[in-house]
Amino acid sequence: MLAGSVGFYRRHLIFLTGKHSWPSKVEETILKPFSELRNVKLTASTGAPSDDKLFDAFLYPDRIMFRKLDETHIPKLAEYLAKSRLPYPLHSPAPLINAQTLYQCGLDANWQNIHMHETWLVCIHKERDQCCGTHGPKILEYLRSELKINETEKDFFNFKRGSVNVLGCSHLGGHKYAGIMLHYPSGHWFGDVRERSDVNKIVNSMKNGLIPVEFWRGRNAGNISQADDNFYSTEMVVDADDIIVQVVENKLLKELKGRKGDRLFELLKRHDIDIDCTCGGNLECATCHVYIESPEHNDEIDMLEYAQGYTNKSRLSCQIKLEKQHERLKIKIPK
Ligand code: FES
Repeated sequence: MLAGSVGFYRRHLIFLTGKHSWPSKVEETILKPFSELRNVKLTASTGAPSDDKLFDAFLYPDRIMFRKLDETHIPKLAEYLAKSRLPYPLHSPAPLINAQTLYQCGLDANWQNIHMHETWLVCIHKERDQCCGTHGPKILEYLRSELKINETEKDFFNFKRGSVNVLGCSHLGGHKYAGIMLHYPSGHWFGDVRERSDVNKIVNSMKNGLIPVEFWRGRNAGNISQADDNFYSTEMVVDADDIIVQVVENKLLKELKGRKGDRLFELLKRHDIDIDCTCGGNLECATCHVYIESPEHNDEIDMLEYAQGYTNKSRLSCQIKLEKQHERLKIKIPK
């Protein structure tokens, strides 16, 4: 089962090493000075540092590039990680709010906002796992060609709007799911990526705000099995009456934002999900049939039995009024 296979973490520090191979355990070797940092995942990447003797690193979801760090910056980084707030919602495009904290921690000369920038990581860590070493480099090449990225790893200190980096990296976790890809700032992880067509499907789905479920492993700080308040789409800004539901249609996952009191079939129609609602929500047709995990049928059971593909997970979407209890409800659309 791919979905739910991402270990829980909130922040990710991705170092530029300029190398394509690393010792098996980077946290105990080349990144050892940083291993005392708490609550942050450490990864080495192929991106080249601006100075061979110093460290440059991306920090997500903060969307910061740290430049020219040395060991004297480690306590300052630790202080920043402890004091700064995460963006809320975690993957929202809200402007960076921690500039003052960076200043207070003595890091004001070492950071750059990469708010408009995207990073793709592909695990190529053959010293840690042979499968990642086999599939990773191919996936990296497919991804670069799919995104038309010709850069060398030295080219990317220009974080203009819409710029993208594609980097090979050290062990991400879960190598039995190789090839593994990870996208920031969305925080989506993908696994079992093997073919050029797999990469094409992931990239094109993401461009359209969709997630291909057959490759999806989860997301930083939250996935289906580790529910978390921060599990929202990149584009979504939510308030107290918003309710996010997850819809799987044709094996693609989409997150929809509804409002408390919305009827589910109206939300699905509003987002062009392919269901009929022939009777207009009057409990007379069963064409608004959907599947959900723990259905409570209430009064609709008589009509439900006329629904095509009826199972014990069936419900009529016109009979579901969105309440807070439906937050992150997972809905499957019948074929
Ligand atoms: S729309 Fe007809 S029963 Fe739901």
